[in-house]
Amino acid sequence: MNKLKGRSLISITDYSKEEIIHILDLAEEFEKNHRQKILDGYVVGSLFFEPSTRTRLSFESSVQYLGGSIIGFASADTSSVKKGESLKDTILTVSNYSDLIVMRNPMDGSARYASEVSPVPIINAGDGANQHPTQCLLDLYSIRKTQGRLENISIAMVGDLKYGRTVHSLVQALSLFDATFHFVSPDSLKMPSSVKAWIKKANLSYNQYTDMMDVMPLADILYMTRIQGERFPDPLEYEKVKNSYILANSMLKGTKDNMRVLHSLPRVNEIKEDVDNNPKAYYFQQAKNGVYVRQALIAAILGLK
Ligand code: CP
Repeated sequence: MNKLKGRSLISITDYSKEEIIHILDLAEEFEKNHRQKILDGYVVGSLFFEPSTRTRLSFESSVQYLGGSIIGFASADTSSVKKGESLKDTILTVSNYSDLIVMRNPMDGSARYASEVSPVPIINAGDGANQHPTQCLLDLYSIRKTQGRLENISIAMVGDLKYGRTVHSLVQALSLFDATFHFVSPDSLKMPSSVKAWIKKANLSYNQYTDMMDVMPLADILYMTRIQGERFPDPLEYEKVKNSYILANSMLKGTKDNMRVLHSLPRVNEIKEDVDNNPKAYYFQQAKNGVYVRQALIAAILGLK
């Protein structure tokens, strides 16, 4: 299947269920051998207008393991954006130097706009509070790997469901796989209606809670999120909710044997370090899976697999 060749990935909803599964199957192939030199002579542009550790560096290692080159910037401050250059001009310029552009930008919708002006495919590495489709694919990969399936998963999402872009993408994707959703958040950070509409459209159900202990025995996947302080218009509002949910090891007693704790990371204080050695903690392996999933995506979009 090379239907993904030349296509941008802006929202997880750009991909069909079959295309998602194709990427996960390819990622499995890369997990067995992530040092295939298939990118020899290819250049990937990496434009990060917002901070990142995992997404930026796993894209860089993905490309380098495959023998390709990656160019770009890790902060708008070191680019000509600092001098006032527009996003359009930046994209048109970098597309002269690369076969594919990976971009993170704080503005919702910026990745879609970039894909409309770019002559080369764009991969959205996170646009504001909107979408993070490559994180979504690695989350799906991690769920399938730990649960042995994607269908009929019971998932509890905890924390900032309003500004957390990873959970928005993941709800849309899991709606294709008959998931049951449990949303735990403060009242001010509930899952947006526009995202819940995807669940209704798929004839699936969700429940909303404020106490995370209510969902602990129900979940196959406990997906913790960071309260996204940088996206709050009012810092005082952030102060009120910043410590709403803190997972401690003792709270995992009585959870399902197959249950795994995921978090897109970085964490601040929402998962105590005493959880890290519990076999149910999967967040660092989850981040590692990002290399294979991003290799699969790049190979598919460049038409090399
Ligand atoms: N998961 C994730 O997007 O992490 P970074 O912000 O470090 O890239």
